Amino acid sequence: MRMVDLIEKKRDGKELSKSEIDFIISGYTEGRIPDYQMSALAMAIFFQDMTREERTHLTMAMVESGDQIDLSAIEGIKVDKHSTGGVGDTTTLVLAPLVAALGIPVAKMSGRGLGHTGGTIDKLEAVPGFHVEIDNQKFNELVNTNKVAVVGQSGNLTPADKKLYALRDVTATVNSIPLIASSIMSKKIASGADAIVLDVKTGSGAFMKDLEHARELAQAMVDIGNNVGRKTMAVISDMSQPLGFAVGNALEVQEAIDTLRGKGPKDLEELCLTLGSHMVYLGGKADSPETARTQLEEAIRNGNALEKFKTFLSAQGGDPSVVDDPSKLPQAKYTFEVKAGEEGHVASIQADRIGTAAMLLGAGRATKESVIDLAVGVVLRKKIGDSVKKGEPLVTIYSNREDVAEVKEMIEDAYRIVPEAVEGPPLIYDEIR
Ligand code: URA
Ligand code: CA
Repeated sequence: MRMVDLIEKKRDGKELSKSEIDFIISGYTEGRIPDYQMSALAMAIFFQDMTREERTHLTMAMVESGDQIDLSAIEGIKVDKHSTGGVGDTTTLVLAPLVAALGIPVAKMSGRGLGHTGGTIDKLEAVPGFHVEIDNQKFNELVNTNKVAVVGQSGNLTPADKKLYALRDVTATVNSIPLIASSIMSKKIASGADAIVLDVKTGSGAFMKDLEHARELAQAMVDIGNNVGRKTMAVISDMSQPLGFAVGNALEVQEAIDTLRGKGPKDLEELCLTLGSHMVYLGGKADSPETARTQLEEAIRNGNALEKFKTFLSAQGGDPSVVDDPSKLPQAKYTFEVKAGEEGHVASIQADRIGTAAMLLGAGRATKESVIDLAVGVVLRKKIGDSVKKGEPLVTIYSNREDVAEVKEMIEDAYRIVPEAVEGPPLIYDEIR
């Protein structure tokens, strides 16, 4: 086999076989195929797309390029949730204890944030003492005992994807449905989940800015998962504005606690109940997502979900008393209000700009090496559809420095206020199976 022939084949819109895809991915991972040939192939895929079979073969070739996590020591059906990334997406913090409270094992491998999207591990580390450096055996033990544990990414998972993603980033080939779908699914499959619930975001703060593309991506991932025997479904949810009110690590922990108590933002609660009900259903603990939802609502009402959060925190060294006394979370020195310049209704909030504003305060990383400030961030006071009076606060800034002029300006630019009444966007657009 020669790589040049395979590039030509894809360039001309023909289908690559499993053995050809295996040849490409192992050759690229091991350095026999150079970046320039892989770039040409990625561009050919970008224009010619891939069939369902090709996407599945590509995903599995990437899974097999490195280590695969073995979760067989953990009892029960392991259900993972993956979000395509958004601003102020506090769902994992809520879902992990909420779903575990119903006895579903949540063996979560999580990442840190880069750019304007936050990582679950950063958020959890806002709880004093909490750490994710636990070995495999301890991780399995914790999940078996408490039904929930979170660990940092370790080992050599999907090295082919790491290399290819970096290459796509500099060759304008990131935004390709077969390449995104296989990239995300290879990581989920290598992480060992039996079933996968995907939260595909659409809107200004998301990867997929419009619904049509979000649907296409969701279907591509669902097909790959089901093709390889992992029960997979996707929810398409709104990211035209940040989820909930809080964006920033400690602020989001606080928001998660409120939500587990049944007193959180309605959109965050609703998305957690939707995703959670599919997780519980796929985990085999309810005979329909509807009954699962009732059970989850009950776990919030009777305090089991909040209790599970405390157990989870203390099992990994965290101080569980933050749940009842949030002043023990890192606190910012200063707060500032961004006020409405005019009266009217909020028509849009550019989520990515809000995320960037939080990052500028220090809540997120500009580069992989940045050290983040766990206390800082922003809390939205107004969301799309809300009416505002001139001078009313739109956003509260939590900062450890006094000069926030640039951040204020960015937030002012993110809000569009119009005179006429506006309806808020739907939260859930579709479910894909
Ligand atoms: N996230 C991933 O992990 N891979 C992609 O290709 C795009 C987003
Ligand atoms: Ca939030």
